[in-house]
Amino acid sequence: MKTTLTVIKADVGSIGGHIMPSKRLLTRVTEVVDSAGKAVFQDRYISFTGDDIAILMTHTLGTGHERVHKLAWDAFVAGTEVAKEEGLYGAGQDLLKDSFSGNVHGLGPACAEMEIEERPNEPFLFFAADKTDPGAYNLPLFLTFADIMTTPGLILSPKLSQGFRWVVMDVNYTDGDRIIELVTPEEIYDLAALLRDNERFVVESIWSRSSGEQCAAVATSRLHNIAGKYTGKDDPVALVRTQMDFPATGEVLAPYSIGHHVAGGMRGSHNMPLMPVALNTSTSYFDGPPLVSCAAFCVHKGKLTEPVDTFAHPFWDEVRSQVSRKAIDMRRQGFNGAAMLPMGELEYTGVMDKLRKLEARFRLRGAEELLPAGILYE
Ligand code: F6R
Ligand code: MG
Ligand code: MG
Repeated sequence: MKTTLTVIKADVGSIGGHIMPSKRLLTRVTEVVDSAGKAVFQDRYISFTGDDIAILMTHTLGTGHERVHKLAWDAFVAGTEVAKEEGLYGAGQDLLKDSFSGNVHGLGPACAEMEIEERPNEPFLFFAADKTDPGAYNLPLFLTFADIMTTPGLILSPKLSQGFRWVVMDVNYTDGDRIIELVTPEEIYDLAALLRDNERFVVESIWSRSSGEQCAAVATSRLHNIAGKYTGKDDPVALVRTQMDFPATGEVLAPYSIGHHVAGGMRGSHNMPLMPVALNTSTSYFDGPPLVSCAAFCVHKGKLTEPVDTFAHPFWDEVRSQVSRKAIDMRRQGFNGAAMLPMGELEYTGVMDKLRKLEARFRLRGAEELLPAGILYE
């Protein structure tokens, strides 16, 4: 029988701004999930990263299953009630629709899942990021699955040498799922041309070409595409299977030592470096820096081992120091240039309002008339 790994996450309220959920909120979410028990899932793991709560479940119902998604939705709805009672900031923020329909896609919570034929031993990694969007995983995944400097397995293992099939989504397209499939190593430059643009093209899944099996799944939801306006950063989750036919755990973790700049941080409107952090870490400096946590598991007949907190290892202390320096360095240039996100990604309307007002005052030197309105920004 196949096992499905499903992780669904949402921000339904946090203490002290967008920092972390309260204990009561976490307890309530856990109670609702556990009340369904074995009727829905085989095992579960509930954690938080910054202000987001993630519910990881193993089950046999397949991907996108209504009962699994409804359970997570109900848990977040119940959690929202507690968040309101406690007066938490942003209570129910990621629940963008009033009622549940079918599955959580398009309702606000982020979801990554895959149905797998368990190997005799099945190691996998569960990533959760806060204060950023799904494209934050583009570079680390590219380096792990397509770059031999990061993943020596690509030349050492005959199976990895056959490469991978990538499904990439154009998340700006809102009338449906606009996807493209590419294979590496043959189309590595084409893939890079897409993945450079984190805000538009996002890795949705990766598949082994030697076995045909899925090895990675990333939540691709963009909240502002659902709500029609900016409602906060998407804070994506991801699942990556490791070892044997897939990259080793260390090859998947290695790219997070870069602390690459991603969209996120203060008011969801800045570029800041992604910091690998321990499980259940809150958010801090400049409403960031964007953070990513990673729990390593083995799953056997649907049963999860205890998680290993991969980024709690002392190695990552040095990385965190470097990322802190990088974050402070970027912050020195404030609102200017690369420090702040481009127009289309800004969370607030203030800049656009100002530009619209200023438009009317632009004129062509030497000409009497003012330039027609709308020439600079629609
Ligand atoms: C992401 C996150 C941010 C906020 C954004 C809005 O987890 O918390 O994207 O949604 O900073 O902040 P407020 O609510 O202060 O406008
Ligand atoms: Mg938030
Ligand atoms: Mg968040």
